[in-house]
Amino acid sequence: MAQSIISKSWKNQPLTTSLLRAWLGVTWIYAGWNKATDPGFLSNGSTHYIGAQLTGYLGHSPISFLLRRMIEHATLVGWFVMISEFAIGFAVLSGIALTLAAVGGAGMSAMLWLSSSWSVKPYFLGSDTAYLILWLALIFSIHQKSVRASGRSVAVRQRVIPDLADRRQVMQLFAVGAAAVIASLGGGLLKKKVAAPAVGSAIVQLSAFPVGATMNFQANDGGPAILFRTKAGVFAYSALCTHQGCTVAYSPADHLIMCPCHGAQYDPNQAAAVVAGPAPTPLPAIKVAISGNKIVQV
Ligand code: FES
Repeated sequence: MAQSIISKSWKNQPLTTSLLRAWLGVTWIYAGWNKATDPGFLSNGSTHYIGAQLTGYLGHSPISFLLRRMIEHATLVGWFVMISEFAIGFAVLSGIALTLAAVGGAGMSAMLWLSSSWSVKPYFLGSDTAYLILWLALIFSIHQKSVRASGRSVAVRQRVIPDLADRRQVMQLFAVGAAAVIASLGGGLLKKKVAAPAVGSAIVQLSAFPVGATMNFQANDGGPAILFRTKAGVFAYSALCTHQGCTVAYSPADHLIMCPCHGAQYDPNQAAAVVAGPAPTPLPAIKVAISGNKIVQV
């Protein structure tokens, strides 16, 4: 039965619709799989952590107010994004709730455009606007015939929202959702293990890290950390906020380490003392030292 639903959905559609469905469906599944097998995506403290990615978008995004709320629940947002990507990909390839999936894909692309690729210049180097257009093209391509035949608003409303009174449609939606959850959990089982850097391992060459420089690195405990070099020497702090564990970032303009979640601020030149916000204690220091031409963790 599932086979007949899928094969029926691919028949009698223009080649352009088939191309869009194949490309977008495979790409969205690949995006979900990429996240599911990334050991750092849901791991607070990793540089790949979804919360760290969202934090990185804050400085230039026009929806930073929304991103701040998302950062507070970053792991949950990460699960939602990953499962949604799988679900959209499966739905587009199977033809189940196709328009709803395409609207979801367009929404995701729009969010990515407003966050991750907003500052990409010229704009055509960022792929999210192109994906947004591809999703819109798919939506219009699906509805071209029905809009002409039965009137725009009725046709679109009927097709976008699946009929939840129809048991068969509910079962199909359930199957897509279950497949997305299974794929997310399955990818999690295949995650590669990432070893934290060993004690004494080099963080950076001294010659490549002049006085006044800062950089993010992974500490021995696997957590994110920020390294500084000033005239006084080299020093580093954990990049996990002592309030609720969001990943902090150094702001060169303010000369402070800032937390995007609730506004804690730390002064890196005063042993990471709290200078604003709700953080109860300074950021923990990470021991680093100069060894030959390297800066190492000790
Ligand atoms: S987590 Fe609340 S201020 Fe950083």
